[in-house]
Amino acid sequence: MKMEDLVLQNRSYRSFDETHPVSGDILKKLVDLARRCPSGMNKQPLCYKLLTEEADICKMLANCRFAASLGIPLPPDGHHPTAFILIFADKEAGSPQTLMLKDVGIAAQTILLGAAELGLGGCMLGSFDPQRLNEDFAISDRYEPQLAIALGSPAEEVALTEPNPDGSLTYYRENGTHYVPKRRLEDVLL
Ligand SMILES: Cc1cc2nc3c(=O)[nH]c(=O)nc-3n(C[C@H](O)[C@H](O)[C@H](O)COP(=O)(O)O)c2cc1C
Repeated sequence: MKMEDLVLQNRSYRSFDETHPVSGDILKKLVDLARRCPSGMNKQPLCYKLLTEEADICKMLANCRFAASLGIPLPPDGHHPTAFILIFADKEAGSPQTLMLKDVGIAAQTILLGAAELGLGGCMLGSFDPQRLNEDFAISDRYEPQLAIALGSPAEEVALTEPNPDGSLTYYRENGTHYVPKRRLEDVLL
């Protein structure tokens, strides 16, 4: 698939086809992409936890907030993600936080583009309680949760659209489609 098509297909999905599991091998392939990404000062502070078991996915769903501003329960019952990749920063890797945070974004986007190439989709999630996450999965305090990525086979329509008439960029749902306003090219060029 062309890069532009991959980027366009790579939306944030919050409803999934539960009959389509994502295997541990696929998750490992996605992390294998991420581990070879650029890293500030090449400190490579990121580590990953892979979840495919239903009980683990339920634990993450109980901790995460999906599109909280919409005020509707997401993902809907029966449409849960079938995997998660959790991204942690190793406090002992010596990466300054400003650089580590950039590494997280690069890794997460790479994982999701890799997933899109495989016909999968997901959602980056920063809204969760990190302490609870470490407790739930018996992860040492040495590893700080940065971002969770829910993954699966998308079961909803997400469309990009123009900024809202009042100029806001708030996403919304209409007739079952999730609309995401994006700034225009001319408005992002300085
Ligand atoms: C760093 C980061 C954190 C995010 N955290 C959440 C989150 O906690 N819950 C959620 O539903 N979406 C989350 N998102 C997804 C954004 O809401 C989404 O990227 C935005 O609405 C634009 O939609 P798009 O990804 O389809 O372009 C996050 C995205 C990023 C980049």
